[in-house]
Amino acid sequence: MDVKDAINNRRSYRNIEPVQIGDDIVSELAEAARLAPSCYNKQPWKFVFVRSAEGLQKMKQAYSAGNEWAHKGSAVVVVFASRESDCIIKDREYYLFDTGIAVGQMMLRATELGLVAHPIAGYSPDKVHEILSIPDGFNIITLLVLGKKSNDSDNDDESERPGRLGLSEICSSEQFDSL
Ligand SMILES: Cc1cc2nc3c(=O)[nH]c(=O)nc-3n(C[C@H](O)[C@H](O)[C@H](O)COP(=O)(O)O)c2cc1C
Repeated sequence: MDVKDAINNRRSYRNIEPVQIGDDIVSELAEAARLAPSCYNKQPWKFVFVRSAEGLQKMKQAYSAGNEWAHKGSAVVVVFASRESDCIIKDREYYLFDTGIAVGQMMLRATELGLVAHPIAGYSPDKVHEILSIPDGFNIITLLVLGKKSNDSDNDDESERPGRLGLSEICSSEQFDSL
């Protein structure tokens, strides 16, 4: 799969079913993130891969209402970083940006491996800190729920990708122009 296909095929499906997430997959995903660019090569990102039945069960306490679909995840990648671990240039803090790039690469590699990698913001960071013993000072930026796309027709229809803004609404040429 080339990058364009991975970009086009990646979707945040909620209709997911179990899939084996072996050590090989974990290292492929971690490597895709590890090679991401970052400000001054600071590499602020941290990841905890939760795969055990016991660990996944505990993580269910952290999901917000509406994210019950995530209970079917076969693994969850907990993504966190501290603001001080990356460039802070006047009022520009880069840890979220750089970690986002790393997660983007991880999602595309997951897509290439035939997986769904669905990022969520709907969770209790306090619960995640507690469950995984993550020290204070790290922000839990997202949880990436891993699974396999299910074709179970009883679930919500996800055949269409959610709409996007048009190119003219997000890009202009040479100068700022009614964006
Ligand atoms: C930071 C972030 C937070 C998100 N939080 C949730 C969430 O809590 N629950 C959920 O079902 N989807 C969540 N999503 C998925 C978005 O709804 C989804 O990416 C968007 O609708 C576009 O769909 P697509 O990813 O399939 O192209 C989140 C995505 C991002 C990037």
